[in-house]
Amino acid sequence: MADERTSILVIDDSRDTLEVLQRNLVSRGFQVLAVSEVSEAIRLLETQNISLVITDIRMPKVDGFSVIRHVRENCKGVEVLAITGFPTIDGAIRAMKTGAGEYLIKPFTDEELFSAIDHALARLRLKKQASPSAAPRRQYGIIGESRAMMQVYEAIEHAASSSATVLIQGESGTGKELIARAIHYGSRRAGFPFVPVNCGGIPEPLLESELFGYTKGAFTGAAGSRAGFFQTADRGTILLDEISEASLPMQIKLLRVLQEGEICMLGSSKPRKVNIRIVAATNRVLHELVRQGLFREDLFYRLNVITIDAPPLRDRGDDIVLLVNHFVKTFSERYGRTPPRLSEALLGILRAYHWPGNVRELENVIHRLLSMPSSTTLDIPDLPPFMRFSAVGEGSLNRTLAEVEAEHVRRVLDSVGGNKTLAARILGVDRKTLRAKLRKT
Ligand SMILES: Nc1ncnc2c1ncn2[C@@H]1O[C@H](COP(=O)(O)OP(=O)(O)OP(=O)(O)O)[C@@H](O)[C@H]1O
Ligand SMILES: [Mg+2]
Repeated sequence: MADERTSILVIDDSRDTLEVLQRNLVSRGFQVLAVSEVSEAIRLLETQNISLVITDIRMPKVDGFSVIRHVRENCKGVEVLAITGFPTIDGAIRAMKTGAGEYLIKPFTDEELFSAIDHALARLRLKKQASPSAAPRRQYGIIGESRAMMQVYEAIEHAASSSATVLIQGESGTGKELIARAIHYGSRRAGFPFVPVNCGGIPEPLLESELFGYTKGAFTGAAGSRAGFFQTADRGTILLDEISEASLPMQIKLLRVLQEGEICMLGSSKPRKVNIRIVAATNRVLHELVRQGLFREDLFYRLNVITIDAPPLRDRGDDIVLLVNHFVKTFSERYGRTPPRLSEALLGILRAYHWPGNVRELENVIHRLLSMPSSTTLDIPDLPPFMRFSAVGEGSLNRTLAEVEAEHVRRVLDSVGGNKTLAARILGVDRKTLRAKLRKT
């Protein structure tokens, strides 16, 4: 990960060795702390976030074994690479037994050094993955720790490790495009393009030429030839977004790409091979559309090799709070303001609301809250009206309309401190009607 540099602590009593190692490691992008005393090293281990310790074994005051022992006993998540100028089998065995993961003998080449470091860091990553407490809160830039999202992360990893076609289904705003990007950037194709195409947003004849490209003279106005999205995405990933919106004739053309791994530019009869991972996304339930004859069954099966269901926000429990905090932070930074506090009551409403527009809607609500004149605490009146009155109290499904109405009327009235004129205006009725309704409750 390039965003956070790995910190390495180097301990050696020889100033020359320290300097050479430090220069070498820094040139590879590591952050380096170099000390010649074990006591100093231990102090740094206690205060700094260190991933790897490189220590000499023979040192005048306290030897390297004590450092290795200290790390093993006190610093979980730190790896040790031992080096020595006086190689003995015993010493090597002892270093390994004490807890050094790697052992190098002076003089060593840069290649030996960096290969030992690579091994140590790889082991560290494995350990981190194995211990659930170390699981990162953010995965692929996607926020969420709910069980539903854990399944999504697993599916992303599974998908990223292959080139199989993926179908991502989920309501609007659930993060389908984010998931598609995570698959691409987590895969071996990451160095090649990720090309999202909205099949519902481009009119059909245009969609075909945009996807497949065209040769000169393919149609009136085709003055030169142009590559399509499939060619642009070669060796990378194409996201066919809103795939359900593709017409039946277009579906046949897509099926051919999936079956043959070839595309044909408009106006050309020569197919060309392309190497593309296809990810399709939809907010409609595709197999329902298959049943209704609106989506080709053969294409559905071709797309549906790996399926990922993006869960709706209302099924994601405390993720709502994590996302709220995330967006509050993001938009505060954007507007250069101190992040405001959100009142418990406001958070309660955000939690209870059923979020038909999912994460996108939540993002918009928080954006709107943060773009208003600053106050240090945000509360219920800061919310847009439709949310102020929509949530609070789930209610059961066996209530009559009259009961729901009565409760709603009472709640609106309470929220405006009993002011009937205001309540009537919010409810969209006149005062007389409101009075009649209140008599009934
Ligand atoms: N888990 C998440 N963590 C952080 N941001 C998210 C998450 N899910 C969605 N978002 C954000 O919400 C917005 C909508 O996400 P995205 O466009 O991926 O949804 P979608 O499912 O493709 O929506 P649609 O069906 O409308 O195309 C984006 O701004 C995205 O960054
Ligand atoms: Mg989308």
